Amino acid sequence: MAGGTVLSRVLVLADLPGEGIRRLERSCEVVTVPEGLSTEEEIAEALPGFHGLLTLLTQPVGETALAGGDVLRIVSNCAVGVDNIDLDAARRRGVIVTNTPAVLTDDTADLTWALILSLLRGVVSGDAFVRRGEFTGWRPKLLLGRSLGGITLGVVGAGRIGRAVMSRARAFGVRTLYTSRTRLDPGRESELGVDWRPTLETLLAAADVISLHVPLTDDTRHLVDARALAAMRPGAFLVNTSRGQLVDEAALTRELASGRLGGAGLDVFEREPEIHPGLADLENVVLLPHIGSATHETRGRMADCCCEDLETVLLRDERPARSLTV
Ligand code: DGY
Repeated sequence: MAGGTVLSRVLVLADLPGEGIRRLERSCEVVTVPEGLSTEEEIAEALPGFHGLLTLLTQPVGETALAGGDVLRIVSNCAVGVDNIDLDAARRRGVIVTNTPAVLTDDTADLTWALILSLLRGVVSGDAFVRRGEFTGWRPKLLLGRSLGGITLGVVGAGRIGRAVMSRARAFGVRTLYTSRTRLDPGRESELGVDWRPTLETLLAAADVISLHVPLTDDTRHLVDARALAAMRPGAFLVNTSRGQLVDEAALTRELASGRLGGAGLDVFEREPEIHPGLADLENVVLLPHIGSATHETRGRMADCCCEDLETVLLRDERPARSLTV
């Protein structure tokens, strides 16, 4: 109690950067579990008495977890992806769910290009080569990659991040095709310099690099399965900075090991943090630990968005613009 007013209570399942958390601590009673909670049962057990919950993408919030929320009003997820949250279950309980779109678009698109450039120009393999002491002098055929001007990029998904990846392609002089459920309007297509393909299959058959930018849903799980991988051009590259479960990692590992595909750049994995056996032994992959949005600036902004939305609901009793449910 403060001056007769009941303070809202917020459970924060992470150790977050940014100013927002300190501001939230001045207006609410904040209980932080820095190491997080990893099962729905643990969350359900911790949740009674809390009006707000701040989660990470690694923390599952379904019926079981929500059942512990006797006074819960908002779950604020510190990620743009909300595949860890059962939105229908939250809706049924009248719980607001928010995420952190927009603030991480540029950093994620930049990291996507870091992977594309690494694959096409041997940035990571070249570094390893030098460190192994194998660089004995300039040679005309050493580590030959692919010219950006000679490739076709295929972007799957034309949301914020997909579009940001496409706009960077133009600066590199890369021909770009995309597929998405909803086609962009002609003005946007010509501004980005991109051409639409109506299906994933037609895109896969036409591109040298495929980059995934769709959310994980029941419809997109294993979007890139053995069949889709077989439809990719021989020597093509797959880049994934979205969610690991979009790709059948066992099938991808087989295709890469056989040498049919040119390589893969993965920032996300099907069973994070596990990597499919054999994948890390391959030369033609670049593997990153889910760091698409990992800059000081963006991670701070993501935490701030979450705190703002918690305040909007708990202090001002308003519906945040980022609400995905009620
Ligand atoms: C997200 O926000 O969904 C990313 O995977 C982490 O930034």
